[in-house]
Amino acid sequence: MKLGVVVLAAGLGTRMRSATPKVLHRIAGRPLVGWVLAALEGVDPVHTVVVVGHGADDVTAVLPDGVATAVQERQLGTGHAASVGLNALDAACDTVLLLCGDTPLLRAELITELVGMHAGSGRAVTMVSADLDDAGAYGRVLRDGAGEVTGVVEAQDATPGQLAITEINAGIFVFDRAALAAALGQVGSKNAQGEMYLPDTLPLVGGPIGALRSADPDVVAGVNTRVDLAACEAAIQARLREELMLAGVTMPDPSGVYVDHDVTVGQDTVLLPGVHLRSGTTVGEGCTIGPDCVLEGCAVGDGASVTAAHAFSSEIGPAAQVGPFAYLRPGTRLAESGKIGTFVETKNARIGRKAKVPHLSYMGDVEIGEGSNIGAGNITANYDGFRKHATRIGARVKTGSDCVFVAPVTLGDDVMTGAGSIITDDVPDGALGIARARQAVIEGFTAKAVAKAKAANDSGGH
Ligand code: UD1
Ligand code: CA
Repeated sequence: MKLGVVVLAAGLGTRMRSATPKVLHRIAGRPLVGWVLAALEGVDPVHTVVVVGHGADDVTAVLPDGVATAVQERQLGTGHAASVGLNALDAACDTVLLLCGDTPLLRAELITELVGMHAGSGRAVTMVSADLDDAGAYGRVLRDGAGEVTGVVEAQDATPGQLAITEINAGIFVFDRAALAAALGQVGSKNAQGEMYLPDTLPLVGGPIGALRSADPDVVAGVNTRVDLAACEAAIQARLREELMLAGVTMPDPSGVYVDHDVTVGQDTVLLPGVHLRSGTTVGEGCTIGPDCVLEGCAVGDGASVTAAHAFSSEIGPAAQVGPFAYLRPGTRLAESGKIGTFVETKNARIGRKAKVPHLSYMGDVEIGEGSNIGAGNITANYDGFRKHATRIGARVKTGSDCVFVAPVTLGDDVMTGAGSIITDDVPDGALGIARARQAVIEGFTAKAVAKAKAANDSGGH
């Protein structure tokens, strides 16, 4: 058996009421069609074709390498889409697995079981069905007196009696390729939607119709509306959280944790409520993340603690501390045991081992050496209105509160700066940089001011 896969993903998804093609709507950071393709991991197909139409270029752009596309110019129905896909499928494939691009809860185990059941069965087709309490708009599976499947009727075409059937067509089939091609040639479009229905091929392929009745109705759920999208998101979040917890991650309130599909979290890390770990994020072992964090494209080292922070494309080193109330913009690299504290924004900032930026600062386009401490309220003035410039701060530097570093500027190692300094010139190793007006002290000023005000009052002023 040489297996090919055709995924139907050309529809706009009218019921989504969206400018975005349905299969590009995301769940846990991955487009719907990506979830469907991920379920193929157990079956190793020879060739995979995704049938695209609405937003064809955008859909094609998200597909993994090695997946081909076929364009269905007009959406004439799932049967028509299947024939478009079949025409593009490698001629070597004698068996074809047909999937819809809008069923993100699909499991690799189900696909593997279906393909296994079909192989060697001698049947021309094996389908997946499921029993739902509310069969809604799904196609209903028709069976004869002996319990054999005879076909599928779409909800729009069903009689009230057929609508009462709770066994539904999941839209997942394995066909003998030649039998499917021949049957598609005979399918018409005389139905409520005026479309070529793929399930209409079932009685035409010849011989008994195999059916794998899924024990878990959820895995076949299709996304047709945003309500379905939210329900599938919830189901996938529950799955991802469960996988993490079983791998040794603590979540006192799992319902308050959101993770994208590709996130990894090490053992004994605690994820507190309000944590969103988005695509490209890896968290090490023994960390505490949250409450209230958004991390996207971040690498967090072992033993780090991150509280109430938003961080994007950043590295947080082992045993480092971030937050509360920190904003790490792309290119922030906080080394081991470093600290980015409260009301601190960083961007393109390399902060060395044990270096600290504890309070109320903006550090952009900056390099800070090992063990340095940045005073409260320090700012890198990195933008002159035209271009960005760099600030270099050496190791073991201690800056006073409220300093501004007017870039480009360099501070050597072991430098100190006076509080309130506007540093415009380089400060060499071991020196103090101070730049502020000298303070004047006027003795007895307050008493004189009071006397003056009193005199003005007595002469009739207010
Ligand atoms: C389809 C089935 C229904 C089944 C349900 C399971 C048909 C006629 N009906 O209904 O029996 O219970 O799936 O989820 O097959 N598509 C194309 N080109 C087209 C039409 C559709 O590529 O011309 C794609 C869509 O993008 C979608 C998939 O096929 O990914 C299914 O189409 P959809 O309109 O969602 O079918 P349902 O009404 O859900
Ligand atoms: Ca659907």
